[in-house]
Amino acid sequence: MKHLLKLSDLTSDEILDLLGLADQLKFENKNGIPHHYLEGKTLGMIFQKSSTRTRVSFETGMYQLGGHALFLSSRDLQIGRGEPVEDTARVLSRYLDGIMIRTYQQSEVETLAKYGSIPVINGLTDYAHPCQVLADLQTIREYKGALSGKKLAFIGDGNNMANSLIVGCIKMGMRVAIGCPKDYMPDSGIVEWAHSTGELLITEDIYEAAEGADAVYTDVWSSMGMEAETEKRKKDFAGYCVDSKLMDHAKSDAMVLHCLPAHRGEEITAEVLEAHAGEIFDEAENRLHAQKAVMVKLMANK
Ligand code: CP
Ligand code: NVA
Repeated sequence: MKHLLKLSDLTSDEILDLLGLADQLKFENKNGIPHHYLEGKTLGMIFQKSSTRTRVSFETGMYQLGGHALFLSSRDLQIGRGEPVEDTARVLSRYLDGIMIRTYQQSEVETLAKYGSIPVINGLTDYAHPCQVLADLQTIREYKGALSGKKLAFIGDGNNMANSLIVGCIKMGMRVAIGCPKDYMPDSGIVEWAHSTGELLITEDIYEAAEGADAVYTDVWSSMGMEAETEKRKKDFAGYCVDSKLMDHAKSDAMVLHCLPAHRGEEITAEVLEAHAGEIFDEAENRLHAQKAVMVKLMANK
């Protein structure tokens, strides 16, 4: 494993390895056991979109690992004024030990990895959010004891989260159901791969999607960069909401996950969010541990 660009690049064993390391790092963190595995290393974090969790968990995680993180807003970098990614990649590779990037196009992340000579981590693109899904899998395993055979239902937009959840969950032997409007399907290549690899249901009927689910997942109707479509999306997604009626179709002990930020009264009711705040904020915490595992795997001298 040289980079984390998307989960489809990883084998199931590589994902399991990362989850195991994330659990170990969480244990070390909670018990005050020193874990300076990245002493003297620097991570550059390029942000072309807003972030609370990703920025703070990467920066804190790097500090806890004995390294240093640089917040690089695209507003300040020359990349924001048109310097090519190919050149940025080669320059940053001379200073840093790893790059985390949050941007729009997946191709930009892939180009950064191709032209640079250091590990690149995808901190969210329009196509994928692999770091989030590693934290999600860690959380599901903590609550459910196992991943294989469990069912995850995703309700809402077939967006970056849906794409990465399909890949990550199927690679872990989980069953996935997506309840989304027909014009908002997940990536067709991922859907095709999932149908030929594991068990994926895509339906407009959110109750059918939620039936017997162990974990119910949702995300915003309008992702970052789609602000102009917000009003149209509010109409198109009306009813695609995780509420108590939907939860009646899931298993009685089903957990609820949300990558956050959440829009109460849109994709999830305040009642369901608060009833499942334990899982949802554990999930947010696990971003720290899962990403530390990714950084150690990619950046520590072995
Ligand atoms: N879930 C997530 O990636 O949150 P941020 O946008 O706050 O980083
Ligand atoms: N789908 C959302 C996820 C935010 C973490 C977005 O891309 O804005």
